[in-house]
Amino acid sequence: MNKYAVIVAAGSGIRMGGTLPKQFILVNNKPVLFYSLQAFLNAFSDIQIILVLPVDYMDMGQEIIDAYFDKEKFRIAAGGETRFQSVKNGLELVEEESIIFVHDGVRCLLTEKLIHRCYASAVETGTAIPVILSKDSVRIVNDEGNDAIDRNKVMLVQTPQTFHSKILLPAYQIDYKEKFTDEATVVEAYGLKVTLVEGEQNNIKITTPIDLLIAEKLINDRN
Ligand code: C5P
Repeated sequence: MNKYAVIVAAGSGIRMGGTLPKQFILVNNKPVLFYSLQAFLNAFSDIQIILVLPVDYMDMGQEIIDAYFDKEKFRIAAGGETRFQSVKNGLELVEEESIIFVHDGVRCLLTEKLIHRCYASAVETGTAIPVILSKDSVRIVNDEGNDAIDRNKVMLVQTPQTFHSKILLPAYQIDYKEKFTDEATVVEAYGLKVTLVEGEQNNIKITTPIDLLIAEKLINDRN
């Protein structure tokens, strides 16, 4: 089966502070994005990467590809205002029937095992959404106040969210809604159920400075 990884790295990273988007910050002398890309290239020798970048950082993205990777495996798309639009722009470059991984460029700690698990589920069921259980107690806020909910029934959603192209490409023809924070919500709005697969505790989304410290430590330990 053909394989594409759409790596969305077009966010501005406001929550991190500073000006350089978090996907370009160096961890052990390499940009965060490098580790995410390498995981997919290590997982499958025949995978094609579609890298979605902020318009102002296209050159920086190209420099990362030139420095570390075989550029034949890459195509670049410009990001949009929302994550949904960035994914949609990336999907326009998918050329054939395939399994498509959509991954946050800032989740640089995922393993090849997780990528393979998502692939197997997407081949079998058409979809794969990696999730982990919440370690914390969970409450939901409503008009009356707030209520506890059973944390064993709460799943935290990660990427790579993985789909057969026959599902993901038509699903993304839908009009944007604010609730589309990931691909699963888009595919559900298209009328399909999604399959959950086991995610990874270390597959954190680098969002705030503490996440960067954790990533540094984990990458150091790996090396
Ligand atoms: O904003 P959030 O933390 O949900 O971003 C998750 C991923 O989506 C990040 O890798 C970010 O770069 C990407 N993104 C994007 N285009 C946007 C917003 C976010 O590619 N407009």
